[in-house]
Amino acid sequence: MVLPIVAYGDPVLRKVGVEISKDYPDLAKLLDDMFETMEKSKGVGLAAPQINKAIRLFIIDSTRMYDEDEKNDGVREVFINAKMIKETGDDWPYEEGCLSIPNIREDVYRNETIRIQYLDRDFKKQEKEFNGLTARVIQHEYDHIEGKLFIDHLKPLKRSLLKGRLEKISKGNVDVSYKMKFPKK
Ligand code: NI
Repeated sequence: MVLPIVAYGDPVLRKVGVEISKDYPDLAKLLDDMFETMEKSKGVGLAAPQINKAIRLFIIDSTRMYDEDEKNDGVREVFINAKMIKETGDDWPYEEGCLSIPNIREDVYRNETIRIQYLDRDFKKQEKEFNGLTARVIQHEYDHIEGKLFIDHLKPLKRSLLKGRLEKISKGNVDVSYKMKFPKK
């Protein structure tokens, strides 16, 4: 089932997510719905706050970001109760977007490599290192479960220039092809 994606301005996007346990109601169905929702909206990641649940859960699929001839072929993975261990390497810019903030893309600087602890879909403990675009997607989604958005990384001037467009998004005054829930509509 495709779930509506919460738009910018909804307080749920600013909440720090709480950890979940293995008996979280209908978790398998929730994960299936999240993957379906992410694919339908052509996203490469989706965090639970974006579907109106302030819990520490996100999914990513960076496989579509890599060309076939590249060595790295991306990652499709579930991250439950994730904890960032460290972020290392040079800051590099990449033009990010967010399904909750449609039609706005801006350069964000982030570290090249991350080390992260999490539980996978089967609640098996994992600790892995990721880099490049996959690390980038994880960093973006990890921000979501901390109540942060990619626009928080922009310089104050740049952010203030986006204010009007962000206000329009929260009112539903935006051209978007997937189902959304707008806080001020
Ligand atoms: Ni996002």
